[in-house]
Amino acid sequence: MSASGHVPVMLSEVLEQLAPRDGAIYCDGTFGGGGYAGAILEAARCTLFAIDRDPEAIARGAALATRHAGRLHLLEGRFGEMLALLEARDVTRLDGVVLDLGVSSFQLDDSERGFSFRGDGPLDMRMSKHGKSAADLVNTLDESELADVLYQLGEERYSRRIARVIVAARREAPITTTARLAELVRGCIPRDPSGIDGATRSFQALRLAVNDELGEVERGLAAAAALLAPGGRLVVVAFHSLEDRLVKRFMAGAAGRQAGASRHDPSSLMGRAAPAEFRLLTPRALRPGTAETNANPRARSARLRAIERLPLDHPAASRDAA
Ligand SMILES: C[S@@+](CC[C@H](N)C(=O)[O-])C[C@H]1O[C@@H](n2cnc3c(N)ncnc32)[C@H](O)[C@@H]1O
Repeated sequence: MSASGHVPVMLSEVLEQLAPRDGAIYCDGTFGGGGYAGAILEAARCTLFAIDRDPEAIARGAALATRHAGRLHLLEGRFGEMLALLEARDVTRLDGVVLDLGVSSFQLDDSERGFSFRGDGPLDMRMSKHGKSAADLVNTLDESELADVLYQLGEERYSRRIARVIVAARREAPITTTARLAELVRGCIPRDPSGIDGATRSFQALRLAVNDELGEVERGLAAAAALLAPGGRLVVVAFHSLEDRLVKRFMAGAAGRQAGASRHDPSSLMGRAAPAEFRLLTPRALRPGTAETNANPRARSARLRAIERLPLDHPAASRDAA
């Protein structure tokens, strides 16, 4: 990787699950550094619509779009609005969708974007550069709202204490930088013996809130499923448990299973939410191999899940509907 590049995570597994074909039409909902996009376009003579909400990612993709002129179409926007973005290009059916959730190394490593508690920069965290920033939330939410964000989206057990300290500090002066926020948060938390920075969970929570990332995942999954033709595949890589839980539940439901169904709990296997329209390609999430996590520690928490739309006359659809 270049000093400021993004190493695509689980790329070979993504390609294996998507299985790109000549003549097919795909959507990469999270273009980022174009790692997946370039590989998909190399793997088959297909067409790819690539979405990113970050204008910098779209601008960076221009060279790749030139290299694959007529086959790569870059769309600035949210994957949650994939239906409208594609419909504007007269695309109403897809053969595959990939989503690689979260932020890219380009975003994380640029302190001016305000995603990282390492280094210092403006407290921003907006992928699209629009809307309310992390500083807006930190300086305007009331104490209990702030605590709820930290607890629900960061699973931060010291959320109430951190919110109290933030609210006291902002009475003195608004909190406008990542270093100031990180310092306040670390001061509320006992040192973690495993070496995890005390600011990690709070920064994650604010990033998810600023970009409504969980809402986007829900809308993006539904839009992708609605667009997929029979045989079309949805491949999702998630990096933390809240996102992965949404993906797992959605895919289980699409495959006609109850999310979380367990053979240890027969009642969970009884009812089926809806007829199966998809089959699970990954009954269990795929994880990156050791070689990848050694080479790219950011891959460590990745989980890949994939489904495939069943043909209309597939027996599983009617069996599962019964
Ligand atoms: C992990 S990176 C993707 C990296 C890419 N797979 C690659 O190989 O280079 C995630 C990218 O998705 C974008 N993104 C995150 N959420 C988004 C959303 N809801 N809509 C559109 N783009 C989003 C981010 O701006 C970021 O550029």
